[in-house]
This record gives sequence, structure tokens and C-alpha cells, in this order.
Amino acid sequence: MTDAPAEPPSPDALTVLVVDDEPSNLSSIEKIFQKDGMRVLTAPSARAALELLRAHRVDVVLTDLMMPAVSGLELLKAIRQAAPDVEVVLMTAYGTVETAVQAMREGAYDFVEKPLKRMTIVKTVRKAAERRTLTLENRQLKQELNVLTGREIVGSSPALRRVLDIVLQAAPSSATVLVLGESGTGKELLARFIHQHSARASAPFVAVNCSAIPETILEAELFGHERGAFTGAHARREGRFARADGGTLFLDEIGELSPSVQVKLLRVLQEGEYEPVGGDTVRADVRVVAATNKDLRAEVAAGRFREDLYYRLNVIAITAPPLRTRREDIPLLVDHFLGVYCKKNNKARLGVSKDVTDKLLDYSWPGNVRELENVIERAVVLCRGDRLTLDDLPDTIRDAEPAEPSSITFSVGTPLDEVERRLIRETLRQAKGDKSVAAQLLGISTRTIYRKLGEMEGT
Ligand SMILES: Nc1ncnc2c1ncn2[C@@H]1O[C@H](COP(=O)(O)OP(=O)(O)OP(=O)(O)O)[C@@H](O)[C@H]1O
Ligand SMILES: [Mg+2]
Repeated sequence: MTDAPAEPPSPDALTVLVVDDEPSNLSSIEKIFQKDGMRVLTAPSARAALELLRAHRVDVVLTDLMMPAVSGLELLKAIRQAAPDVEVVLMTAYGTVETAVQAMREGAYDFVEKPLKRMTIVKTVRKAAERRTLTLENRQLKQELNVLTGREIVGSSPALRRVLDIVLQAAPSSATVLVLGESGTGKELLARFIHQHSARASAPFVAVNCSAIPETILEAELFGHERGAFTGAHARREGRFARADGGTLFLDEIGELSPSVQVKLLRVLQEGEYEPVGGDTVRADVRVVAATNKDLRAEVAAGRFREDLYYRLNVIAITAPPLRTRREDIPLLVDHFLGVYCKKNNKARLGVSKDVTDKLLDYSWPGNVRELENVIERAVVLCRGDRLTLDDLPDTIRDAEPAEPSSITFSVGTPLDEVERRLIRETLRQAKGDKSVAAQLLGISTRTIYRKLGEMEGT
């Protein structure tokens, strides 16, 4: 650029990527932003834009809507996938409201109409950059908080991400959420996450384990009681509903509620009010998140759980996926818990030998993440070297017959050699160790499978 401004942009200047198939547009927009002190990247096509996005830090993308090959709208969708934090502003010469609305729905920050006005595009891009900064700061703070409290949700499997997507959508509302899932899958963690991502985050999160409190005192525990309401009630006592006021009440093991408490709970959920034992009606401003590892529908069918309460609780139902359906999260969780427990035990960060990782990947984890967490904690304590070995695992896992998956899931981006390694291993297992059967299933020669197994041993 011959007439570029004398001042080069500062290293932390806002970076905008401009995408337009018209070279003359590109250079005039580039000048506008450079004059404003921004760092500018330019791309003549969506494809070039995606390449630049991969290689550079970009805050905002300003893209033309109508481009040959890949349109601005398609580029927007691709950016949402590849770099979801980058804000996108579209330029449209046609100003069709429809496309603009669709673009906003797809997550564009805004659109500007051609012919472009210098002031408008600078202002819009700056505002988009502000939103990006806010989003990043917000995420950073939440992440720090979760790390501080040891309550980070670890995992990147599609199964977990689907759940988190629903949770993030549901969290800001005040709707009752029912968290289902096997024992140890992270139901309480999800309940806390819902609270943290709601408008109630700064008010209390109160957890009650309904199965741990004797039936006879659960009612008073939840709703409170007046002085002298029953023998032994020497003073007035606030219940958990009152303590959670303005915040979230987490009712764990909801399937254990007695019929009389079920009635009272139904009333709070329906009318937003309740009576402390021996007291007058009180209003409740509480969001309820309930959890159970029971099949509540079956409990309803068996007449042990009120159907009307079930429907009240079931407004939004989330199922925490069992660990065996998201094995790709196992290495991440192992790494996470190693960090936590090495620190707790004042040990230098331990590694993991490959046969341990393989064992952990093969195990069926009936106790889910909690079981994995316990196994790692125990192994960290037992470990004498600088990495966990098979000896540090409990017999139950070391000697377990591997689970029998007839299918394996991989997340997108899994290295091919790992895919091959696991596929060969699983197939061999299905073939009960018979290498020629496994080779036939895989469509390769017996010689090839021997060679590949030899290579795998070397890794
Ligand atoms: N995705 C995850 N990332 C990190 N830690 C997790 C994850 N899921 C669960 N945990 C940890 O595993 C343990 C069990 O989780 P949690 O208590 O939430 O499970 P639960 O489903 O409520 O179990 P239960 O049904 O036995 O009450 C906790 O220590 C929790 O922090
Ligand atoms: Mg629990």
C-alpha cells in the first residue's frame, strides 16, 4: 500500500479481516480502517478468509454478502464453527431485510448497507469488537471461578457438548430443570453450572440431598418451622427454601421424596408459596433444579411418584451422558484429575503410561466420572515413579474384561493413526484375539495386521 498512514498500528490494535471479491472495495475499506489505527487483513474470497482466520488473531470479520463460490452467509456459518468468538459484520448491496435477518439469526453481529459510509462501518466494527472483548472477559472470569472452586466441567465429546448447549439455553430462564443420569455422571456439577449461568448466580445455591435426610424431618428441613411446631422445635428455624431465596435450590435424589413432601413441593412449584411447619404462608422466589438417577417415569407408573409433580419438574429435562458413551473425554478427565490430585498431595505433576491410558479407555466405568476420579486419586497416592503404571490401578480395573463396544466414536480431528490403532484393537477384541479373523473384518491381509500390531507395540 503506497499511501498507508505513517503510524503503524500498535501490536494490540483491533484486528479486522475484510472479505470482498472486488479488489477496489478491499483497498478502500482497508484504508478506512488503517486510518483509524486498526490492523487490517484482506481476503478476496471466503476460502482465503478462513485461511487467514486460522493463522492470525482476528477480532472482527467484515464480509461482503454476495460473493461468487462461497457467499458471505456461508462464510458466516463456517466462522461460527471454526472461530465462534470472532464477531462477523456483513456488507450488503441489496439490503434485503430477509437475508440480513437470516444473518443475524446465524449469529452475525450486525450488517451495513452499501454504499458504505465511513463512520458507520468504523462504528459498527468497533462495537462488534467491544462485544467480543466482553464475551471473552466473561468467559475468562467464569473459567477462573470454576478452576478456583474445582468445579470445571471437563470434556469435549459431542455427547457432553450437546448437553451443555441445552443447559446454556435453559440456564438464564427460571424454568425448573430435571437432571437425569446414572450415578457419578456429573448431575450436581451440571446443577451448579445452571445456577452459575443464570441471573441468580450471585444469590445462594442451596443443595439438599433428599435421600440423606430422614423422611420425618425433611419437611421441616425444606420449609422451616415455627417455634413449638412439634416436640423439640425449641426455636423458629429457617428452611432451605428460605435460604435459597433469590437463588437456586438443588433437590438431589428427588425420587426419594415421601408423598406428603411431594404435595408441598408441587404447591411451591405451582403457586410459588408454602407454609413452614406450624407457620403462615410465605412466598418463595426460588428456582428448583432436581436430580435423580431413578427412572422417574417408572416411579410414576408404580404409583410412588406423583404424576403432576413429575410434569412440573420435567419442564426441561437434561440427561448427563454415561462415561462409556463418551470415551474420548477419558484422557481429558484423567489429565484434569491428575492436576487436581498431584497438587493436593504435593506431588510433581505425574505422567501416565500408555498401557494405563488404554486400560482406562477400555474400562466400562459403571460409576462414571466419580469412579474415574477416585481411581486417579488413589493412583496418585500410590504412585512411586513419575508416571502412573498398571500397578497403581485397582485390581477391578486392571483385571476387567474390556467393555464390548461394537462401535467406537471419535471426535472430529482425532489423529488418523489413533483412529487406526483403536479400530484395530477393538476389532481384534471382537474377534477374540484371532488375528486372521480381525484382518478379514478389517479387509486387510493377515500380514498387514501383524505388521500394524508390531508398529503399535513400538508406540
Ligand atoms: N465433566 C466433568 N468434569 C470434571 N469433573 C466432573 C465431571 N463430571 C463429574 N465430575 C466430578 O465427578 C464427581 C461426581 O459428580 P457429581 O457429584 O456431579 O455426580 P452425580 O451425577 O451427582 O452423582 P450421584 O448420582 O452419585 O449423586 C464430582 O467430584 C464431580 O466434580
Ligand atoms: Mg449427586
